[in-house]
Amino acid sequence: MLNILDEIKGTALASLQEIKNEDDLNQWRIKFLGRNSELMLVFSKLSSLQKEERPIVGKAANQVKKSLEAALIERQEMIRQANLQKSLSSDKLDVTLSGRRIPHGRLHPVTLTLREITHIFADMGFQVYRSREVETDEYNFQLLNFPPNHPAREMQDSFYIATQEDRGDNPILLRTHTSPGQIHAMREYSSKNPQNPPSIRIILPGMCYRYEQISSRYETQFTQVEGLAIGKNIKFSDLKGTLSDFARRMFGQSVRTRFRASHFPFTEPSAEMDIECFLCGGTGCSVCKGTGWLEILGCGMVHPVVLKNGGYDPEKYTGFAFGMGPERITMLRHHIEDIRYFWANDLRFLEQF
Ligand code: DAH
Repeated sequence: MLNILDEIKGTALASLQEIKNEDDLNQWRIKFLGRNSELMLVFSKLSSLQKEERPIVGKAANQVKKSLEAALIERQEMIRQANLQKSLSSDKLDVTLSGRRIPHGRLHPVTLTLREITHIFADMGFQVYRSREVETDEYNFQLLNFPPNHPAREMQDSFYIATQEDRGDNPILLRTHTSPGQIHAMREYSSKNPQNPPSIRIILPGMCYRYEQISSRYETQFTQVEGLAIGKNIKFSDLKGTLSDFARRMFGQSVRTRFRASHFPFTEPSAEMDIECFLCGGTGCSVCKGTGWLEILGCGMVHPVVLKNGGYDPEKYTGFAFGMGPERITMLRHHIEDIRYFWANDLRFLEQF
């Protein structure tokens, strides 16, 4: 019996050395320590042994059992360690690697320009006035001194929402410019104190719509920034000073400006402001088409009829207005050759700003 126990111990421990994974280890446990193992057979045979042999064999069998159990635990731990090492070396985590960049949105290039413009005028005391994008013909044209068949109306082919058939001579349309906001603002301000309306200093940024043949230079939607200053004793020199200062803050302190006579129905006199081409410094290049100047905005002294339509007595009040296109300014600054990029939602374009 003792020999058998020795043999059991020998084979069990020897085969344990070969075992490399948990499954085999479990098999080993069943084979050598399980209910039907040879060792357990020895225990069950104890009762049939001679009385004096029993404690000796019993003790020896117990020792074998204990040493097999201890060897099992040791082997188990070894396999666990080996597995851990293996997974540590194969799933290596390099904590010094720089993280993956999370893509985050950014501001639209026109928004950036709009913010800059707003900032500059805010510094000069102008407030932002928001006006509606859906307008009546009355506000978009008539109150701004466009007579019903004035040729200037043809410049601004409109998107009509309710046609002339439904609304007679006051159809509803998407605003073709931010100028109708001038009337809304003046009427709001003057209604506060009709006898002595307060002065106004506002800019009116927003989206405009025109029924254009889309090309690299024309889009059916675009932004404008309108400006309006109304008060007593506002002169053309105030207009020139304000806009020249704006140009210097926007395009650089040394930039030169020039004003050319122009025509708009809602201003008299009217002008357009050019700035010295900031790309060639005025010597002439492809962007300024060799002229050395870039046209930036339209402006003028608010027409007496428009002042009156807004509730301001043109005998007592004067004012100036201007309108500019942030897309055009952004295109000039960044050498963008096609206006259609702005609203095409192409990330390759938008991510560059
Ligand atoms: N509303 C004009 C346009 O869309 C731009 C403009 C010109 C606005 C002169 C003004 C202005 O306020 O004084 O072409």
